[in-house]
Amino acid sequence: MTVFEEKALQAHQERFGLDGRVFAAPGRVNLIGEHTDYTGGLVMPMAIGFCTWAVVSPRNDDRAFFYSANYGEEADFEIASLAREPGGHWSDYPAGVLWSILQEGIAIGGFSMTLAGDVPLGAGLSSSASVEVATSMALLAHAGVTLPLPKIATLCRRAENEYVGAKSGIMDQFVVTGGVAHRAMLIDCRSLEYELLPLPSQVRVVICNSMVKHQVATGEYGDRRDEVEAGQAVLRKERRGIELLRDATLMDLEACKGAMTVASFARCRHIITENGRVMEARAALLRGDVARFGELMVQAHESMRDDFAASCEEVDMLVEIAMRQDGCFGARITGGGFGGCTVNVVSADKAESFVEIVRREYEERTGIAAQCFVSEPSDGALAIAAKGGA
Ligand code: GLA
Repeated sequence: MTVFEEKALQAHQERFGLDGRVFAAPGRVNLIGEHTDYTGGLVMPMAIGFCTWAVVSPRNDDRAFFYSANYGEEADFEIASLAREPGGHWSDYPAGVLWSILQEGIAIGGFSMTLAGDVPLGAGLSSSASVEVATSMALLAHAGVTLPLPKIATLCRRAENEYVGAKSGIMDQFVVTGGVAHRAMLIDCRSLEYELLPLPSQVRVVICNSMVKHQVATGEYGDRRDEVEAGQAVLRKERRGIELLRDATLMDLEACKGAMTVASFARCRHIITENGRVMEARAALLRGDVARFGELMVQAHESMRDDFAASCEEVDMLVEIAMRQDGCFGARITGGGFGGCTVNVVSADKAESFVEIVRREYEERTGIAAQCFVSEPSDGALAIAAKGGA
């Protein structure tokens, strides 16, 4: 049992005077395939070691109590009259999941829940999906219901899209639910089919947090999504057989150039080329070609920076510093963008010195102390539960 898991159980006991059942869901980092998920595209994330824990116990009334051990705050709701009224508060996420499960026609009796976690917030490591999936695992167990992976991911995404009001895709909830230790997860976000891919044992995944905050629920993420959707709508209208951007080629896009804004054109070009890079990255992993995988990561970064305009000076600097280091195969911005983290693939024997040098140089140039983590693909919520752990 981890320290945090124990803390969550203890906090629950102290707050509600009861032992509860504990469930865990990790954060995630995306190796390649950015901003492709909401147009039916391809992504390749992995679950990471940070987690949210949800402890649940039944109540004798029909209320839902959510206690955040991290914030030391509680929110409670009448389950029968739970309305879609997000308040810009952490409790929107678990309340949204409760709302989404109720939408499925699943009956939920009164409960108390404690949430605790160590996924860095606003860093692009899916703290939100981690809270959503941990909440759903606990609530489904409380209701005595088991659901398959795509269903859990979809209902958590609905909580985020329709209750919280963030227009995210399915990637985060899917890998946080279904990730598997030692494997990256290639997800087809249209069919929700997936493939587990091995990462070569001689490399480590290093995550560097620029400490520049990013938020999915507000601003630029939504703007980008609008630009993408405007471009997709033109393609759908002008070219036969195109339903989603996933179906489009660069030739299709060129043919529609005059009918869309310069911004939409560039955003769509990023997505079309990114889907291609994910397939190439898959092939590189299958033949153990880390060098090629790394090159694709760098190309993906340049595309996020230039075509998708979703990077920032600090993150670009982290990538530039990383790529000068011995043993670094590839580096790129990861997650929604506009700050947050980079993901780096580094030779295992160089990972520690890599962290040290990147941190030092970044601090010298920006005055910001980056947080860096050497990570490995971890189990998602279902695998953790299947192994009997939280
Ligand atoms: C955020 C969203 C995801 C995905 C990424 C960008 O993490 O939650 O659905 O769109 O940004 O790849």
